[in-house]
Amino acid sequence: MLANGGHSAIGSTFTADSSMGFFRNRRLRQPLQPAPPDEASKIPALGDELVLLRDPHGSASEQYRRLRNSIQALNPDGAPRTVVITSAVEGEGKTVATLNLATALTELPRLRVVVLDGDFRAPAVERYLGLPRRQGITEVLRGDLPLDAAIRQTCIDRLDIIAAGEKPKNPSELMNVDRIKSVLHSLKRRYDYVLIDTTPALDLNDPSMLGAIADGILLVVRLGGAPRHLVEEAQQLLENLGGNILGTCLTGAPPGKRKKTYGTP
Ligand SMILES: Nc1ncnc2c1ncn2[C@@H]1O[C@H](COP(=O)(O)OP(=O)(O)OP(=O)(O)O)[C@@H](O)[C@H]1O
Ligand SMILES: [Mg+2]
Repeated sequence: MLANGGHSAIGSTFTADSSMGFFRNRRLRQPLQPAPPDEASKIPALGDELVLLRDPHGSASEQYRRLRNSIQALNPDGAPRTVVITSAVEGEGKTVATLNLATALTELPRLRVVVLDGDFRAPAVERYLGLPRRQGITEVLRGDLPLDAAIRQTCIDRLDIIAAGEKPKNPSELMNVDRIKSVLHSLKRRYDYVLIDTTPALDLNDPSMLGAIADGILLVVRLGGAPRHLVEEAQQLLENLGGNILGTCLTGAPPGKRKKTYGTP
């Protein structure tokens, strides 16, 4: 499968309210709070990156729908699926691809989708959705927050998120396989798709570890980004640890150049 989620003109406009909330948390160094119920569902997602909302009929949106259809085709029995989204190096477009793919999945009737921000290094799911930072998976894995309280409904129908939460001092300690398996098991009972946004595979072990637990991995590759040998190295690493790479998502392709450039299994 090859999918191209490319869109060329991405800005970084966030709503004044949400970015103020984001910086307020950082400036005062206050511990993150649990999210008030329904908070996220009342805040409109206005970011330019969310192309399925901003330009639902545009070619980038169509590319994300094609990616969604490819993933759906790999899942003919419609069983709940967990998919880890990673890349070889940073900044390839993982988080934006995760949110757009999630939105595309919710366009299918009745599908319920949750995006789990598994990037403890640079969490960005809340930022792209214009939401203030709140407690999330870190607190759940520590046993400080019930999973139910970490799940936040968004303004997008049938799309929920779980934030990364407080940056852990020792992320690897938090990545306990049994605890994560148990969280994913609970999420699979409630959602058709669990999309896990993670760090670059060559930087940290988290994506490899999560990839080995999840049903599949989507490798995000930016055109002109990570050199081919690093993409191949990441692919090898993920597969060696038992990960099942479903395919790649090519980002950053200028309009009119959306052709296959990277072979897929
Ligand atoms: N398909 C795309 N086409 C063009 N620009 C994109 C695309 N997807 C994301 N971007 C831009 O690239 C930058 C990085 O995107 P994003 O945050 O999704 O990357 P990432 O891989 O999650 O980064 P990190 O490794 O830091 O988590 C952002 O400025 C975003 O707006
Ligand atoms: Mg990211």
